[in-house]
Amino acid sequence: MFQDQLVSYSGVQPSGNLTIGNYLGAIRNFSTYSEKYKCFYCVVDEHAITVRQNPAELRRRTYETLALYMACGLDPDKNTLYVQSHVHEHAELAWILNCYTMFGELSRMTQFKDKSSKHSDNINAGLFTYPTLMAADILLYQTDVVPVGIDQKQHVELCRDIAERFNQLYPCTFTVPEPIIAKSGMKIMSLADPTKKMSKSDENVNAVVYILDDRDTIIRKFKRAVTDSETCVRFAEGKDGINNLISIYSCFTGKSFDEIEKEFAGKGYGDFKLAVGEVCADALSPVQEKFRELLSDKAALEAQMRKGAEEASYYARRTLGKVQKKLGFVKL
Ligand code: TRP
Repeated sequence: MFQDQLVSYSGVQPSGNLTIGNYLGAIRNFSTYSEKYKCFYCVVDEHAITVRQNPAELRRRTYETLALYMACGLDPDKNTLYVQSHVHEHAELAWILNCYTMFGELSRMTQFKDKSSKHSDNINAGLFTYPTLMAADILLYQTDVVPVGIDQKQHVELCRDIAERFNQLYPCTFTVPEPIIAKSGMKIMSLADPTKKMSKSDENVNAVVYILDDRDTIIRKFKRAVTDSETCVRFAEGKDGINNLISIYSCFTGKSFDEIEKEFAGKGYGDFKLAVGEVCADALSPVQEKFRELLSDKAALEAQMRKGAEEASYYARRTLGKVQKKLGFVKL
């Protein structure tokens, strides 16, 4: 669809609460992606309503998510950034794909099992068919690669199965996408329990550093980070807390683990934690400033949303039209 350019597609939940794990593991590298791929980034507000949302908050977070991605360096002239509900083809293709997805397949999704136990008062059909909407997102753009976290791999695999099944019945309809899973080396762990991944939904606020945390908060969280009973800053098996801090320091400064061990030789954990907090706060400060600037101009953000939706619609319309024709829908 894009001559010789490969397509990369990713969806992001409308939540301003991105963490330094999201930043270091994924968002910071987006600009290198756009050199290699035609990239789509979609704020998935329709996925968000599979659990109850406060309308004012959902609206605010949709603006914030777009602004935050742009503040982190995602260039809207080189990538297509848009909001899912602005392109009606997503919901339409999702319905069609529902008819080519098996009840049993959806029942096996671990995210559905997790979320339905967490929200046992609201196990709605949307929560169950969440993966077919995600498949529609991906397949509308004839996507080649889907960069996701490991937790979404199962959904991308289901998307492949749906695409292959559909192509078998109606040849050459969809490109079958490959997941690209972020390297685990870049995995940033919780500051409270460094054997667990840092997660934006962690209930312990001290476990997570958010991109939008202010300087004092960032430094305080690093000071409280769980470490071990040694005192020497070195990367070693069993020192999960210190290993995590060394990785974070390395990601922000570009220094190797060796260099870091030398830099802090003879110093205690207290000095090291403060240094990690400081480099993190320094690196995030320009992102935060840009975020506030973008968010202060709603009209400009809306213009951006409109432009993204127009670009996305062009491709979405083509794929949906092709699908409807193959299915035997009457085209007027
Ligand atoms: N389900 C993804 C998540 O929770 C978000 C998402 C929606 C997505 N549609 C997508 C990711 C398409 C990749 C491709 O993180």
